[in-house]
Amino acid sequence: MRIGVLTSGGDCPGLNAVIRSIVHRAVVDHSDEVIGFQDGWKGLLECDYRKLDLDAVGGILARGGTILGSSRVQPAHLRGGVQRAKGHVADLGLDAIIPIGGEGTLKAARMLSDAGLPIVGVPKTIDNDIAGTDVTFGFDTAVGVATEALDRLKTTAESHQRVLIVEVMGRHTGWIALHSGMAAGAHAIVVPERPFDIDELTVRIGDRFEAGKKFAIVVAAEGAKPRAGSMVFDEGGRDVYGHERFAGIARQLSVELEERLGKEARPVILGHVQRGGTPTAYDRVLATRFGWHAVEAVHRGEFGHLTALQGTDIRMVPLADAVEDLKTVPDQRYAEAECVL
Ligand code: F6P
Repeated sequence: MRIGVLTSGGDCPGLNAVIRSIVHRAVVDHSDEVIGFQDGWKGLLECDYRKLDLDAVGGILARGGTILGSSRVQPAHLRGGVQRAKGHVADLGLDAIIPIGGEGTLKAARMLSDAGLPIVGVPKTIDNDIAGTDVTFGFDTAVGVATEALDRLKTTAESHQRVLIVEVMGRHTGWIALHSGMAAGAHAIVVPERPFDIDELTVRIGDRFEAGKKFAIVVAAEGAKPRAGSMVFDEGGRDVYGHERFAGIARQLSVELEERLGKEARPVILGHVQRGGTPTAYDRVLATRFGWHAVEAVHRGEFGHLTALQGTDIRMVPLADAVEDLKTVPDQRYAEAECVL
């Protein structure tokens, strides 16, 4: 068989482990040929690819990023994109394509699958928000990075008696915020799924100082929002205290909490450090299992599905089921965190 692989969307620790696993299973065990497209769907659309053999994937298991490069190009957004993709798959004699990606990539995969292409998806994202799979690889690494940062920030916050608002990734869901906040013993966690009340947050942090504590750590997912009308920022670009309006929830919250509490507050934005570097052992194992199962699905002809972790098993889930809605943080999980904050 001839299999095309690509990595698309924001990168994530563990991508190379999947590529390596696909090549090992396909080339060694099935005598398949594997080619890798450069920079995601862009490589398929531009026919930019190279052969992936054992040499090509040597030594990449523990390496962050992706040896294939990535981009956010989506076939449906380009005129004739879908037809071009289909044409190249036929010209290259591909029996299957394995796109490794997050929400946007898997939506594109579903669309191409519906258009008749033989696709087996592999979900990835540090955000852990893909439905159908209990966990995505990259998440464990990102939570580890954020937790270590929070541990470190506690000591400097305490020395200066400050409130630190630590912004972690998570545009639509708060999984990284929830897990790193719980792991590091943060004093408040705000997530996109539950718009927060600034008065409640102020009381919570204020009570902590009243009780004699010297500092506080708030973890904010980047997509966290205040309840409508509860924050001071006006439409004109300035807050009611006259500060310029800042982009980003951590910056907004640090201004707001400093004014309300009379304590120094600082925003800390962890950003892409959460996506970089070597994957944890957990992520390497999950990524390797996904790669293995994706090749098996190709050989069974189980197209239009993606690999998913359910309990301890890897199962195949229809792409349609996985891209319908994001996997958000359930109230119960948030309640479990609340009681230890
Ligand atoms: O989707 C993964 C993610 O890490 C989000 O949490 C974050 O908002 C986004 O990617 C950042 O994307 P970019 O690297 O394109 O700025």
